[in-house]
Parts: sequence; structure tokens; C-alpha cells
Amino acid sequence: MKLMVINGPNLNMLGIREKGIYGTKDFSQVCSYIQAEGEKRGHEITLLQSNCEGEIIDFIQRAYFEQYDGIVINPGAYTHYSYAIHDAIKGNEIPTVEVHLSNVHQREEFRRVSVTAPACIGQLCGFGELGYVLAIEALEAYHASR
Ligand code: DQA
Repeated sequence: MKLMVINGPNLNMLGIREKGIYGTKDFSQVCSYIQAEGEKRGHEITLLQSNCEGEIIDFIQRAYFEQYDGIVINPGAYTHYSYAIHDAIKGNEIPTVEVHLSNVHQREEFRRVSVTAPACIGQLCGFGELGYVLAIEALEAYHASR
């Protein structure tokens, strides 16, 4: 499958930011891991990151025009308030799985709400970078069941 993996704001700071929550691997190590695990499963993986809401929306729209089979997205803090990203996911009809490295339900109250997850086929959180691989497997299962 042709899959797009999108990481939102501050995820480029992995390995530096809040290591107790997000771990010590830096962003490029996490990207290499996702790329390798995706390719091992026979997928073509495009990894993208942006700190800007509009650019993330452009990525999601690009996935539609370039006929991607699925999107894995960690919208970072936009998860909790970006109706624009919700609309972009909903509008492109590409199965999308939301991932969070941390267990957002164990953290501050505001992180328990995701306005983007309702536009996705499912959400995974709390499994660190393994979550991205589980999301790829969820997309495989989703396509196999169609
Ligand atoms: C996050 C959780 C968000 O609440 C936070 O704003 C992030 C990272 C996660 O992967 O656990 O930037 O999406």
C-alpha cells in the first residue's frame, strides 16, 4: 500500500522534549523505525512533518490527489482543537488512523478530547513509536476486510 505518515507540531523535537513522556529516541530515529517496519510489510511509506496547521491540511489533500491508500497521523496538540484538520481528514475519504505516542488519557484533562479522531477509522495511544506500526497493521486489516 501507498501510505502517508504525518507528524504534527513539536514531534520534530522528539529526543529533546519531555523525554519522560515521549522517550529518548530522536525524530529521525523514530522515522527510520516507521519506514523500516512499513517497508518490511511491503508498503511505500511517505513520512511528513509540519509545525503548521495549513501545511498538515495540504499533506492530507495531497494524499487524496496522489491516491494514497491510507494515512497515519499524529496531529500533536492540534488533535485537541483543530476542526480544520478534522474536516480535511473527513473530506478526503482516505482511511486514516490517529496515533499518539503517549497515553493521552493519563495526562491533562485537555488531552482527553480529540476533535480529529471522529474523522478517523480509529485511534491508538500509549504505545510509543510502536503505535505507528500498529496503525499500519490496522490499515492492512481495514483494506483486507473491504
Ligand atoms: C501527542 C499528544 C499531544 O497531546 C501532544 O500535544 C503532542 C504529542 C502524543 O503523541 O502523545 O504533541 O500527540
